[in-house]
Amino acid sequence: MKMDGKTVLITGSTDGVGRYVAAKLAAAGANVLIHGRDEARAKSLADDIRRQGHVMPTFYPADLSSLSGARQLAEAVLADHKRLDLFISNAGIGSRTLGAERRTSADGHELRFAVNYLSGFLLAYLLLPAIKASAPSRIVNVASIGQHPIDFDDVMITRGYNGGRAYAQSKLAQIMFTIDLADELKGSGVTVNSLHPATYMNTTMVREGGITPISTVEQGGEAILHLALGDDMAGRSGLFFNGMHEAQANPQAYDVTARKRLRALSLELTGLV
Ligand SMILES: NC(=O)c1ccc[n+]([C@@H]2O[C@H](COP(=O)([O-])OP(=O)(O)OC[C@H]3O[C@@H](n4cnc5c(N)ncnc54)[C@H](OP(=O)(O)O)[C@@H]3O)[C@@H](O)[C@H]2O)c1
Repeated sequence: MKMDGKTVLITGSTDGVGRYVAAKLAAAGANVLIHGRDEARAKSLADDIRRQGHVMPTFYPADLSSLSGARQLAEAVLADHKRLDLFISNAGIGSRTLGAERRTSADGHELRFAVNYLSGFLLAYLLLPAIKASAPSRIVNVASIGQHPIDFDDVMITRGYNGGRAYAQSKLAQIMFTIDLADELKGSGVTVNSLHPATYMNTTMVREGGITPISTVEQGGEAILHLALGDDMAGRSGLFFNGMHEAQANPQAYDVTARKRLRALSLELTGLV
């Protein structure tokens, strides 16, 4: 795995599987742009990487529970970098982060939809000029096997809310976006794929959900690295992987009309149109 001279951004790399992937990419020689909210956790990761003699990562703090946070992150990255070889959209919150009740983002959107999906959607589009400038380049959307179809009459789940459904809806939205973006990027040299890294890894979001972990971050991290770097993934795009294997997502992901509706809504909510 040789990443010398390559620039990579991984959101949500202050903790969990993102932290593992960031450390591995730094060890491979990449210039790693790390992101999260927690300064102390970012510093501990940067110190670990530096101690091992790798390129010192740069920390870009941003709160993705507001679209302005996502915009500020993209602006900060683009101010420093005209090229981005790899963008891993990994930051996320679990089904019970901040409790079991429904919450909204700074923009008034259902919180899991906002953090897990809308911010990544906006970031991908804002960063695209730098990603295209580095082609062949890759985008990896870290989704989940937990997927729930979107009810377009109540996308913000104002009725009958539960965190599991909200989380799973946001994860399916990421997969639907991946398929659309892959179509849009055909011929550009940029590929985009999504995955379920591993089931119930031992991470903060799993522990705060009261779930007993059954996988390690190494397992999930290696699955992410496979999509990010694997030679066998060159030129392959628009796919969903369960761990190391290509898999089928929820049927709504393959519903062209549903994807069009999601895309139109997302462009409007993020102010991209
Ligand atoms: N754990 C699993 O078993 C599992 C299974 C399937 C899919 N996934 C997916 O894998 C990804 C990583 O999950 P993980 O288990 O590694 O989670 P984690 O350990 O809880 O880490 C989450 C990361 O996201 C960042 N983050 C959370 N909320 C944020 C916000 N509002 N703004 C900016 N950054 C924010 C955190 O940053 P700070 O700590 O700095 O705030 C942290 O770096 C997620 O997309 C998740 O849905 C996980």
